[in-house]
Amino acid sequence: MRSLALLLLALAARMASGAAAAGVSLGPSSFAVTGVFPSSVYSSYYNNPTATSAQPQPVITDPVLHKIFPESLTDPVHIPQNDTKDPHPLPNKASDSLLFAHAVEQILSLANNSFLTSACAKCQAALEVGKFLAMAAPEQGPALAVAICHAFNFNSDCDTMFGVLGIGAVVTQVVANADVGGFDGQMLCHNFANGVCPIPPVSPLNITGWFAKPKPSPLPPPKTPSGKRLKVLHLSDVHIDPRFDNGAEANCTTGLCCRSNVKNDATFPNISLPAPRYGSFLCDSPFSLVLAGLQSIPVLTGTEHTGFDFTVYTGDLVSHDPDHQLSSREYIEYTETVLYDLYKRQLGSGPVYASLGNHDTYNQAQDAPHALGPPLADQFQWDYDHLAGLWQHEQWLPESAITLARAHYSAYMVRRADGLRIITINTDMCARRSANWFNYINMTSHDPSGMLRFVTDELQDAEDAGDRVWIMGHVLAGWDGGNALGNPTDLFYQIVDRFSPHVIANIFWGHTHEDALSIFYTNNGTVQNRDTALVSSWITPSLTPLTNLNSGFRMYEVDSSTFDILDAYTWMADVATFPALDGQTQFGPTFELEYSTREAYGANITGWGPNDPLNGTWWHLVTEQMDKDPSLVETFTTFQGKTSVLTQPCTGQCVPAKICYMRSGSTALALQNCIPGFGSVQ
Ligand SMILES: *[C@@H]1O[C@H](CO)[C@@H](O)[C@H](O)[C@H]1NC(C)=O
Ligand SMILES: *[C@@H]1O[C@H](CO)[C@@H](O)[C@H](O)[C@H]1NC(C)=O
Ligand SMILES: *[C@@H]1O[C@H](CO)[C@@H](O)[C@H](O)[C@H]1NC(C)=O
Ligand SMILES: *[C@@H]1O[C@H](CO)[C@@H](O)[C@H](O)[C@H]1NC(C)=O
Ligand SMILES: *[C@@H]1O[C@H](CO)[C@@H](O)[C@H](O)[C@H]1NC(C)=O
Ligand SMILES: *[C@@H]1O[C@H](CO)[C@@H](O)[C@H](O)[C@H]1NC(C)=O
Ligand SMILES: *[C@@H]1O[C@H](CO)[C@@H](O)[C@H](O)[C@H]1NC(C)=O
Ligand SMILES: *[C@@H]1O[C@H](CO)[C@@H](O)[C@H](O)[C@H]1NC(C)=O
Ligand SMILES: *[C@@H]1O[C@H](CO)[C@@H](O)[C@H](O)[C@H]1NC(C)=O
Repeated sequence: MRSLALLLLALAARMASGAAAAGVSLGPSSFAVTGVFPSSVYSSYYNNPTATSAQPQPVITDPVLHKIFPESLTDPVHIPQNDTKDPHPLPNKASDSLLFAHAVEQILSLANNSFLTSACAKCQAALEVGKFLAMAAPEQGPALAVAICHAFNFNSDCDTMFGVLGIGAVVTQVVANADVGGFDGQMLCHNFANGVCPIPPVSPLNITGWFAKPKPSPLPPPKTPSGKRLKVLHLSDVHIDPRFDNGAEANCTTGLCCRSNVKNDATFPNISLPAPRYGSFLCDSPFSLVLAGLQSIPVLTGTEHTGFDFTVYTGDLVSHDPDHQLSSREYIEYTETVLYDLYKRQLGSGPVYASLGNHDTYNQAQDAPHALGPPLADQFQWDYDHLAGLWQHEQWLPESAITLARAHYSAYMVRRADGLRIITINTDMCARRSANWFNYINMTSHDPSGMLRFVTDELQDAEDAGDRVWIMGHVLAGWDGGNALGNPTDLFYQIVDRFSPHVIANIFWGHTHEDALSIFYTNNGTVQNRDTALVSSWITPSLTPLTNLNSGFRMYEVDSSTFDILDAYTWMADVATFPALDGQTQFGPTFELEYSTREAYGANITGWGPNDPLNGTWWHLVTEQMDKDPSLVETFTTFQGKTSVLTQPCTGQCVPAKICYMRSGSTALALQNCIPGFGSVQ
């Protein structure tokens, strides 16, 4: 178009000047040169310049560079493919400190870039910057974490929290290894950057090939109850605080109260509530409370002369200090040593089967997957070895289980002489809020640590042997969906379906410090009724009163052949009465029976004989009673806080929310189905 216009313009100009041109004379109307190339144009040629079979290749000299261009430069047959002579220079290699400075600068630029309108995109882009720094100059990683913390006000003490002595080195390892531009980064930004990225849905789960065999159909016949009842203690979240300071501020504004280093901002330097020696609502368990509980347990459960058949401990021994105050693995080793020794000596005979809680590592909640490879994969081995060593020392586990515990992040399987298999899980590998940073590497995988592979293989062995199993771990898989990660619990739900109820008789969790329960159903919980209910997970209350709770523990009555639970008894001590116990030594705290589960919820469940178990079906029927009678949810809520005076009532939307949590065994189900926001009474 454009050239056509130019042509027309030239033509018009020619016509306009036609009159003036009349005065000059032109040459002939046409002309043809000879077919011989005018070889005199150049003084020399690389070829014979006839131009008949090839174009002439004159020899050209550069008058400025004083050089003759080689024939190869214009060789029509051999065209070069690459500039091998004068490529452009690269920028200088940056020093580590320069890399650091630019990483900070670039992250701030991203944050300030008004064309990048998504905070999630900014966050993931910033992580990419961090990833390359972590890989190129790992020793600058913690400093970057500190700088970013300062820039975005993530913490009041960034230097301590994110420095190389804090979590900074762990964060550097994780960012260096994670897919920060993808799912990993989205979850990191969801969980650690004020939720700037939405929580991604669970990844598609390809279950093909996961199980060695299909679920037996029909299921093997249920075991016949023996009628003999075992007494099994369930203790959780003791959280002993060996640094508890009698009389210190028990109503502190921030931090773990009843410590000499905390204050109430409104009353400081006065103490608003002096720490009672048996503990308080915002404090972990002082030695006095731990011993009071352990002394009461045999008396109240009637096991003074017999001991328990066994005890399950669903984790968390250590107090709620921030990492920098825990300050070393030695504090963890101290606590593990003290509490297991006390359980051994105070609870009488019967082994204690313990699982690791998120507070029982250092740094807390951190556990590294084997896939990270040595030496990073080995950085928590000291803990697994110490725990396994103590369990062996207390003679609670056989050699085979000790070996498993050392090899599987402290998780193990023990087959009891009575045929019950206990399989423990290190739930740090699927915890969300109590963050194991290492879980943020390869998160699209449902089992990056191999923990669920281990559980599945053990369940298959149990099925092959015709044994029943109790599974126990610390962080609960379901309930309100707030505590565990979507992908691992989605897989765990399918594993539970595959092996229930014929293999898995019960599941036990702790962690929330609250008394709760969630039920697993067939077919990923798509239909929830008495026929689809499979098994229930018992979430057992803590001994520590933290936060705003009473202190408690539980005992199950268990059939010695089916390992079904016939009843659960929960005891508690009213923490509001503890201040009055100071200043005298006649009485310590009173623990009393809070409730029997069968009695509290079973009254209107018809067709359930006294020897029928409190299994998944029964618990589903309890939730149906709750649908009809909200006062039962009120009862449940009272027990959730161990009848603490500080527990708020559950009304309105809280009622359907709680029933829904009880029917949600995985994070995905809870987030998909339930009204959020009513999970905790603290
Ligand atoms: C150009 O050089 C690069 C190495 O710098 C090489 O990888 C590439 O294959 C070369 N390209 C061709 C077409 O030869
Ligand atoms: C952010 O951008 C504004 C203008 O767009 C500029 O004035 C300011 O200095 C920038 N801040 C940073 C930290 O770069
Ligand atoms: C699912 O996994 C199986 C076994 O690993 C594989 O053969 C199949 O291709 C996978 N299917 C999809 C949709 O990825
Ligand atoms: C704890 O302190 C807060 C103010 O920081 C106050 O409102 C509250 O009543 C105190 N509670 C107790 C039990 O002293
Ligand atoms: C601390 O107690 C003293 C003596 O009772 C009182 O005079 C003072 O006002 C209190 N300080 C605060 C900050 O409450
Ligand atoms: C993450 O996934 C990559 C690619 O599949 C794999 O090479 C690496 O070992 C995995 N790392 C971890 C820690 O899972
Ligand atoms: C629960 O126990 C009842 C009564 O023994 C039994 O009929 C039912 O099948 C059991 N449910 C499950 C899921 O095992
Ligand atoms: C049983 O039903 C009665 C009458 O509806 C009701 O008052 C009571 O709370 C129910 N108890 C339980 C444990 O479901
Ligand atoms: C189970 O259900 C949840 C909630 O609907 C869903 O997100 C998840 O993908 C399902 N899992 C499987 C394996 O179907």
